[in-house]
Amino acid sequence: MRLAINGISGKMGAYLYNYLKERSDWTVVCGLSRQNLSLPIPIYKDIKSCLEREQFDTLIDFSQYPACVEVVKQAIINNINVVSGTTGYKKYDEKLIKYLAMKHNVGVVISPNFSLLSQELADLIYQMKKHFPYCEIIETHGIHKKDKPSGTAKYFANLMNLDYAFIHSVRLPGYIADHELIFADEYQSLIITHRINNRQAFISGIEKAIIDVTNLKKVEILI
Ligand SMILES: NC(=O)c1ccc[n+]([C@@H]2O[C@H](COP(=O)([O-])OP(=O)(O)OC[C@H]3O[C@@H](n4cnc5c(N)ncnc54)[C@H](OP(=O)(O)O)[C@@H]3O)[C@@H](O)[C@H]2O)c1
Repeated sequence: MRLAINGISGKMGAYLYNYLKERSDWTVVCGLSRQNLSLPIPIYKDIKSCLEREQFDTLIDFSQYPACVEVVKQAIINNINVVSGTTGYKKYDEKLIKYLAMKHNVGVVISPNFSLLSQELADLIYQMKKHFPYCEIIETHGIHKKDKPSGTAKYFANLMNLDYAFIHSVRLPGYIADHELIFADEYQSLIITHRINNRQAFISGIEKAIIDVTNLKKVEILI
């Protein structure tokens, strides 16, 4: 499998690159960054020159919205599968990306949180909302996170038709991604906390998405 990473200079992109370069069966052939990085693979400043010069099966994107949208679109129309974890996609992006993925027969998985436990939590939230009329979400991330509220918190809120006003954002040093959901009725409450202690938590979900876009041409956009 030949891969490219958009956002390779970032916290998540760099973690993923260092992890994937140890896998003998997959190769990261190049990366994208606006910076002059010294890495042993070619780094491109824009997706068009990257696509002109390199051959790869799947683009992995952990960058910044809305810059990611053009990169993802260019990959799809050049028949490259996409796995994107960047947060902030809007409903209209979902519509266009799904249309392009179908048209070009490529797999696209976009998810605000690739940790397997957060995916389990999404199923649980759906059940909990049936029993508890009230829910508020507290999301805590590192101080450099640009979007607020987090994509994961918005995704959880969307599952419950919960207004984003019930999401509370905290930015503190030392955090990666915490999501606390407080469910309550008049007589009781239930608090569920999902805490990411290490970016390794995202890896198996990303690997699964890479396999799914390659083998199944899966198209799934969670926002
Ligand atoms: N889905 C998940 O499981 C998951 C997990 C962790 C993070 N995330 C999301 O992944 C994204 C990246 O997170 P991170 O913690 O790695 O962020 P980060 O450390 O700030 O890195 C951002 C990356 O985006 C690139 N970038 C490209 N265009 C950009 C632009 N116009 N403005 C700013 N940066 C731009 C930067 O590259 P250059 O500056 O070198 O060009 C950099 O490599 C965020 O949206 C975050 O919420 C998702």
